[in-house]
Amino acid sequence: MHSMKNSGNTGKVRVFSGAQPSGDMHLGNYLGAFKNWARLQADHECIFCVVDLHAITLFQDPKILASQTREAAAAYIAAGVDPDRCILFNQSRVSGHAELAWIFNCVARVGWLGRMTQFKDKAGKNREKASVGLYIYPTLMAADILLYKASRVPVGADQKQHLELTRDIAQKFNNDFGVDFFPLVDPVITGEATRVMSLRDGNKKMSKSDPSEMSRINLTDDVDVIARKIQKARTDSGEIPDNVEGLKDRPEAANLIAIYAALSDQTRAQVCEDFGGRGFSNFKAALTELAVTVLGPITSEMKRLKDDPAYMDSILDAGAIKARELSEPVLREVRQIVGFLGV
Ligand code: TRP
Repeated sequence: MHSMKNSGNTGKVRVFSGAQPSGDMHLGNYLGAFKNWARLQADHECIFCVVDLHAITLFQDPKILASQTREAAAAYIAAGVDPDRCILFNQSRVSGHAELAWIFNCVARVGWLGRMTQFKDKAGKNREKASVGLYIYPTLMAADILLYKASRVPVGADQKQHLELTRDIAQKFNNDFGVDFFPLVDPVITGEATRVMSLRDGNKKMSKSDPSEMSRINLTDDVDVIARKIQKARTDSGEIPDNVEGLKDRPEAANLIAIYAALSDQTRAQVCEDFGGRGFSNFKAALTELAVTVLGPITSEMKRLKDDPAYMDSILDAGAIKARELSEPVLREVRQIVGFLGV
């Protein structure tokens, strides 16, 4: 009988999450992901992955992919992910991800993937020219998680649809093969800033692909750059409202308040209460000071780690070995369930 227990031998619930090594990490990655990951380490068994297989669904320059992979891992660590307490590795090192993704490609239905909004956004108008990998991106993501039978997955709000697909795949696999094998994952979408928006347009997500540098705060920005970007952030002509309802239909104000709340570990309601009635210039000065205080140590730790590629490689090597160890028994069972010869 296959068991749904997924807690390994630690007795803790297993968490899996990942981010792509495709360019500068920014405030959205920190507040929407890494910061929440670091929090979960205390009472979960955590696996954090740099998803380089996902990155190549859009072409990546091979000359810089390795350094971007180290840099992403450095950002996790700088944000508080502790390689002594969790598994930190890059996806391409554990071939089980690709193998399980193939099996899931045969479980998932074309129609399911056709509904994924991230594919529609990333492929744009020219769908015929998108890579096949971009289309089946979500089956690889399901494999990432289920290869470890992880049941809790902290992500930003934009990944919710992919996690629903992961549940559908787990359920269909279990049904098709008549087993009770894969757990149904719970998305963990927490924090006051699960969706950090562009500083230039409160309706657009903060993104590394935005052509305007002023739209985002990179985790490599120094103090002066952070200050200038906040000073220049778009706002409306109103004041800071004294309650959250007052942020309705004011996307730029809502975004800055959410960023302040997340950086200071307060609720948006508390921030509104504190700053209600004040103008944006006053609020931006406070936000700048807060951002510099919180991000300063992260930026400098990231720089230190970036300058030590040998150390980063040793962390990722050790992580890959542990990840392989955890995944192999799961994969072996999957092969047996599917009926492959020679397991
Ligand atoms: N798709 C996620 C993102 O773009 C990254 C990712 C890949 C991921 N595999 C994952 C996140 C598994 C959580 C779990 O943010």
